[in-house]
Amino acid sequence: MRQLIEDSQFAFSGAMSEMGLSDSDWGNLLGRATVEDHGDAAMPCHSLASTLKRSPSEIAEEVCSLVSPQLDGIADVSSISGFVNLRATASWLSSKGSSLLSDPRLGVNEEDRMTIAVDYSAPNVAKEMHVGHLRSTVIGDAIVRLLEFKGHRVHRENHVGDWGTPFGMLIEHLLDLGEDEAANELSVGDLDSFYKQARSKFVSNEEFAERSRRRVVLLQGGDEETLRLWRVLVDESMRYFNDVYSMLGVLLTDDDIMGESDYQEILPTVVDRLSEGGLIQNSEGADVVFPGGWVNREGEPLPMIIRKADGGYNYSTSDLACIIDRVERLGCDKFLYVVGTPQKQHFEMVFQVAKQAGFMDERHSAIHVNFGSVLDTDGKVLKSREGEVIKLHDLLSEAVVRANSAIEEKNPELKGSQRESVASMVGIGAVKYADLSTERTKDYVFEWERMLSFEGNTAPYLQYAHARICSIFRKWGGDRSTLSDSTISCNEPEESMLARRLVNFPSVLDETISTYSPHKLCSHLHSVASAFATFYEACPVLGADSEDETSSRLALCELTARELDLGLGLLGIEVPDMM
Ligand code: ARG
Repeated sequence: MRQLIEDSQFAFSGAMSEMGLSDSDWGNLLGRATVEDHGDAAMPCHSLASTLKRSPSEIAEEVCSLVSPQLDGIADVSSISGFVNLRATASWLSSKGSSLLSDPRLGVNEEDRMTIAVDYSAPNVAKEMHVGHLRSTVIGDAIVRLLEFKGHRVHRENHVGDWGTPFGMLIEHLLDLGEDEAANELSVGDLDSFYKQARSKFVSNEEFAERSRRRVVLLQGGDEETLRLWRVLVDESMRYFNDVYSMLGVLLTDDDIMGESDYQEILPTVVDRLSEGGLIQNSEGADVVFPGGWVNREGEPLPMIIRKADGGYNYSTSDLACIIDRVERLGCDKFLYVVGTPQKQHFEMVFQVAKQAGFMDERHSAIHVNFGSVLDTDGKVLKSREGEVIKLHDLLSEAVVRANSAIEEKNPELKGSQRESVASMVGIGAVKYADLSTERTKDYVFEWERMLSFEGNTAPYLQYAHARICSIFRKWGGDRSTLSDSTISCNEPEESMLARRLVNFPSVLDETISTYSPHKLCSHLHSVASAFATFYEACPVLGADSEDETSSRLALCELTARELDLGLGLLGIEVPDMM
């Protein structure tokens, strides 16, 4: 209830100075109530007891009597065991609700524009995208949409793993198979078996291994034919990745690809600039940097390898190049890396070296937006039945098939292409929402029944609430756009509860984006949908007692529908009008 706190601040300022307190004594005390049943905002007075030499309850009572008259019409004030509690009044809720309704942005303001790179998805060529890449894709995409909505200029950066020594063996395997056959295997997404076959020949067949090593040298030397073959691998894999992206409905396009190979040209510059900064040391023929602060298992300082003894560069070197590129070419203020928690140390070291080398400074911020693993119901990392990496394409197809049968059961009337389109929104929405609604740093359990359920904090529940509101509008038959000018009034407790949750939208959205935590927006949308369900049970909309009441309730329906639509849209989830 940020709004209520802002609107009540003046009364507290007055009361506090009357009681002889300065802003610094109490400034941070007025905050959101922790228990919704107690109120919307609260101020604990316990920390003021020593300054004022009175008991917290006495202080709370006095504050209460001073602010109450000032907050008439804004909040009802009470004091309980040392807390001053504020409860928004129906008239305040009505006026805030009505003003959100008339605002196409639902009260969300734009921030000062920053240029932000969001590094996400980043699968590896000729390897299956795993569920970690799914998380990165889904979370990263939601963050991009949210940042753009807040007015920022966003560069989507898909840092695909498309370079490095494995490409020697992958190209040789491609030649062994024949280009057409290899392309075929890759484009249908048999990436893992392709990779494994290459790998197993590499370890068991010395002649193949030797060819592969020579091939790496050719690749790094820019040999034309080798680059052409490499391109085949990249293109066929990208074709598969794009297929997954289009099923997911994410924003990523080929223009967003900035793979490891794209930084090859500036890698020597990275080394030069690190040397100029006196950061490079030679260790057994390799160029390394000791960022300081990290040790290996033996307690020795941990190096970051920049260039290996054979002249090849490392993953870290590409990431340093990325920072130079994002600062100097793209002019970014901020870079977000939506990558799993296991790469935590990698990013900490890269950021530290980049600062030491002056590739970025205090004007820039680099943030590892990390996330946990996807587990199966036994608590193990999610695998296919055969114990292999799950093919994302199959997983998403299964989601749609399952959603289709769930909808068939719920609404047999919905048929043909209409049902197909709803099934795709629900199935894909369910997978994305299950991921987004879990606090990202935690692991989450992939469970079909739960994510596709029409009850609980799930996409189908929210999508259904939206579809239900749309069906009320269809019955009503009026023009929805006229509802933006309506006045919301909160006479029943269920109306107040719904309005109280709805008006939180702008502050929840800001918190979601400032902490890169989509689950906060998910919890909010779920709280709105469940308050809507209670409201709808208790308060007839079209059969209300008066025209004014119908109009106010339609307005509450409209605001709920728009919040669900906008909120889910910012999470990259589609919202059907019927289901
Ligand atoms: N391709 C990497 C992986 O699959 C992720 C890359 C993340 N981005 C980056 N700038 N390092 O683990």
